[in-house]
Amino acid sequence: MLSRRQRVALLSACAAVAVTGAAVLTAAVASAAVTRYEAETSPATCDGVIESNHTGYSGSGFCNGNNTAGAAAQFTVTASAAGTATIAVRYANGTTANRPADVLVNGAVALSGAAFNGTGAWTAWATTTVTASLNAGSNTIRLSPTTAAGLANIDYLDVEVGASPSPSATASPTTTSPPPGRPSQCTGSSPITCHFAVSPGNYTVTAWIGDRASAGNTSMSVEARRRIVPAVTTAAGTITQYVVTINVRQPEGQPTGQGGTGTSGLTITFAGSAPKLSGLTVQAASNPLVVYLAGDSTVCDQMIAPYAGWGQILPTRVSAGAVVANYGDSGESSGSFLSNSALFPTMRPLIRSNDLVLIQFGHNDKSTTASTFRGNLTTMISQVRARGGIPVLVTPPVRRRFDGNQLDATALHVNGVGVNLPAEMRSLGSSLGVPVIDLTAKSEALVESMGPTNSAQLYLRQSVDGVTDNTHFSEYGAGRMADLVVQGIRERNLSLVSYLR
Ligand code: GCU
Ligand code: CA
Repeated sequence: MLSRRQRVALLSACAAVAVTGAAVLTAAVASAAVTRYEAETSPATCDGVIESNHTGYSGSGFCNGNNTAGAAAQFTVTASAAGTATIAVRYANGTTANRPADVLVNGAVALSGAAFNGTGAWTAWATTTVTASLNAGSNTIRLSPTTAAGLANIDYLDVEVGASPSPSATASPTTTSPPPGRPSQCTGSSPITCHFAVSPGNYTVTAWIGDRASAGNTSMSVEARRRIVPAVTTAAGTITQYVVTINVRQPEGQPTGQGGTGTSGLTITFAGSAPKLSGLTVQAASNPLVVYLAGDSTVCDQMIAPYAGWGQILPTRVSAGAVVANYGDSGESSGSFLSNSALFPTMRPLIRSNDLVLIQFGHNDKSTTASTFRGNLTTMISQVRARGGIPVLVTPPVRRRFDGNQLDATALHVNGVGVNLPAEMRSLGSSLGVPVIDLTAKSEALVESMGPTNSAQLYLRQSVDGVTDNTHFSEYGAGRMADLVVQGIRERNLSLVSYLR
């Protein structure tokens, strides 16, 4: 979400856009104020329970509605004057299925079947925005689920009431407050491809996904297949605003250019089965928390499908103010990452105070001795610390090599000269006071729990991907690995926690 100050600035700065369709007509906004209505605060009601067991909510809790159609969350909001309001609903849906709800204003359906898509976790909160006409004074806004799954967990409404439309404004198409409309930098319809000629750096990107007039199914990715938003379904009239920070570098994928160097500037792609975009802005980001990734092919921004590194999916879990800068590169070991001028020597001077540097090696340290491995990692750790950065060791994700129902030693990164690389990282972490995310143990548990057959989908399969590879991930597998890294970030309480979505 933008801050109130930013939003008011946007309202005044944005070019107005013409809309058609009587349901969404609104006058130009003369002034706007945002008021927050928490789901746990009376007179709001919740057909379920107010809970606080999933972190990240605002106020003292959220409404966990009963899993029944019609089990609603209702808010009472006050409008100083009659007019169109922008209603931002903050919610979390830890399932992968949409939990649609009708939005009723003063008892009448203003919008049917607004989408509340999966947010990745019950602790991952997202905001979806709808517009509706309010009366002067008190109004009820009721979110009433239309399926047996019930509502997503509902945190609050942010209601922004504009000036009332003049009588003539409702009779013909007129102008509206944000979303600002699709910019000229975008071309095509499926996918919609947008290109901004900006220099390397970090940028705040605001995307309004959805359309006032028609339903959509839209995903958002940037640069070298970096995922920002998985495909989301939006009903006609529902527009969801996403604000993210994006790292632009050249080459845009792997730092050594393996797989291609991409296009200079920032490319943003909206795909999905029916991409809908109602606005897109790009601004330089001031001083974001940067999460640098130092790693190999299982981490990197893979230019070419079907390959996917977990660092390529991690941005789907990060909101504006923090940004992933992925310096992962295929084939790199702890030693080559240090010595190759495109890698550590390029990344190191960019590190600023309190930035996080996640360091994952092992796959290509096949014949590295324990002392060399520890030495390489110690060099990286001390150089990151010398820049004021915070190093974090990430043990390597397992390969899919089963011996019966369990993974073998090679899968668990015991290398060719008998060094248990993850064990070295754990002990180095404790002796140097470096937090360790044990992705080896987490991915071992995941892969073994899925079993020898079912775990194939995490990696590349001939039947689906045209190649068999039990080291590299499918997009699905990379997403599961990113989830495990996020779990580790929470367990270690790293500063990124406050930016997780
Ligand atoms: C879980 C979750 C709840 C959520 C519920 C649901 O129980 O902890 O917060 O509301 O699923 O599916 O609705
Ligand atoms: Ca529930």
